[in-house]
Amino acid sequence: MNATTAHRGPPIVPVPSSTAHPAECDEAVIVTTTAAIELSEEFLRDPAPVYERLREQGPVHHVQLPSGLAGWLVTDYTVAKQVLADPTVRKDVHQIRRIIDTTQTGVHAMGSDMAEPMLNTDPPEHTRLRKLVAKAFTPRSVTALVPRIEQIADDLLAAMPTTGPVDLLSTFAFPLPITVICELLGIPVTDRDQFRDWTNTILFAGAQGRETVLAAAADMHTYLCTLIADRRAVPGEDMLSGLVIATDDGANLTETEVVSMVFLLLVAGHETTVNLIGNTMLTLLGDPDRLTQLREHPDQVPAALEEHLRHLGPVHIATLRCTTETVTLGDTTIGADELVFVSLAAANRDPHRFTEPELVDYDRANPGHLAFGHGIHVCLGAPLPRRRHHRHHPPTRPVPAHKPRHRPHHAGMADQQPHPRTGRVACATALGAHA
Ligand code: HEM
Repeated sequence: MNATTAHRGPPIVPVPSSTAHPAECDEAVIVTTTAAIELSEEFLRDPAPVYERLREQGPVHHVQLPSGLAGWLVTDYTVAKQVLADPTVRKDVHQIRRIIDTTQTGVHAMGSDMAEPMLNTDPPEHTRLRKLVAKAFTPRSVTALVPRIEQIADDLLAAMPTTGPVDLLSTFAFPLPITVICELLGIPVTDRDQFRDWTNTILFAGAQGRETVLAAAADMHTYLCTLIADRRAVPGEDMLSGLVIATDDGANLTETEVVSMVFLLLVAGHETTVNLIGNTMLTLLGDPDRLTQLREHPDQVPAALEEHLRHLGPVHIATLRCTTETVTLGDTTIGADELVFVSLAAANRDPHRFTEPELVDYDRANPGHLAFGHGIHVCLGAPLPRRRHHRHHPPTRPVPAHKPRHRPHHAGMADQQPHPRTGRVACATALGAHA
């Protein structure tokens, strides 16, 4: 099937206006009740010292973002878990928009191009959607993909130039997840280049390319609607067919819901995996003994993956939540209609939960990190990165002599709740081992 470029109404998908520009971050500050957190390149690269300071002052902090948007930042592991599992702390995008519009002077919520993917809904809507997608996202369907994932990874490694510097992100980390997601969804091979182009435009064009992003999203929407109609007529073995035919008491996902789900899988599964690969390789390149240890003992890779997810996970701050009634978090009581930011990065380095949290320790007795979130929105795709890394040990290429550097933007799951003024969230750590 060929991709079509005809527009069919406005895109119903969340268009992440991500990718904060470093220069903006350098100037920005988050004001807490006790201190200003400078959103500098240094903070984004290593937020741990700032979080350590905040944690000493308490588990929850009133913060103000550069836009003026105010809320509560959670830096403590136990309170983070409490918030992520609390049914009174909600994710409903309409309620969050209303709070921003009515309580935050001078700040306006995002426009109407934000759809309501599962991640931005609460029960019972979330329960219905998650149940339907879980039917298509079974451990069996993920396990069945493993040989293909390994093949894709092998092909990418084999295609890397054998001499000179190699950019790990562009040659491996970026193409791997998008190819796997195409495979998972059953995007025909002939359409994949086009599909990848749209995805890259949507995920990485940033706020400056807004019109381009919207056009790519509209084209992809039209394309997916045609593909959905095809799968409805003749279902295959792929996840898109699974989403199309999944029923709950006889009710299917609507076309809008299937498209929205596909976009969620793309947004949630792509950047996170890129960042996981970049962050983990960056840590390992700075610790050659550990790299050697892993190469000699590839059986340690699963434990290593969990520890790297804890130590420098891809999602810095979970998606935005709001209170619906008075709630006590640690030593702080918060009223209804307040915004809450849960720092997964801070929780995962909480010394009350993890002994010597700054250390990478593959033998931790109490893993339990929050890198995949917690509660009803816990990452649905977690088996994928876990399976992907099961067999592959780090590539045995020479380690670069020069210092790897950050990618020139900071994206992540937090980008799904963009900064209300700039459309950006400057709160996610994304590292890249650019040669
Ligand atoms: C290393 C990789 C990944 C990490 C660290 C990660 C992390 C997360 C986190 C923290 C959340 C919860 C956010 C919140 O509660 O605010 C989440 C949700 C989600 N993730 Fe992942 N993710 C990863 C990969 C993937 C992949 C590969 C997919 C699918 C292809 C995926 C699909 C989803 C979906 C659908 C949700 C929403 C679940 C719901 O709302 O019920 N993720 N992820």
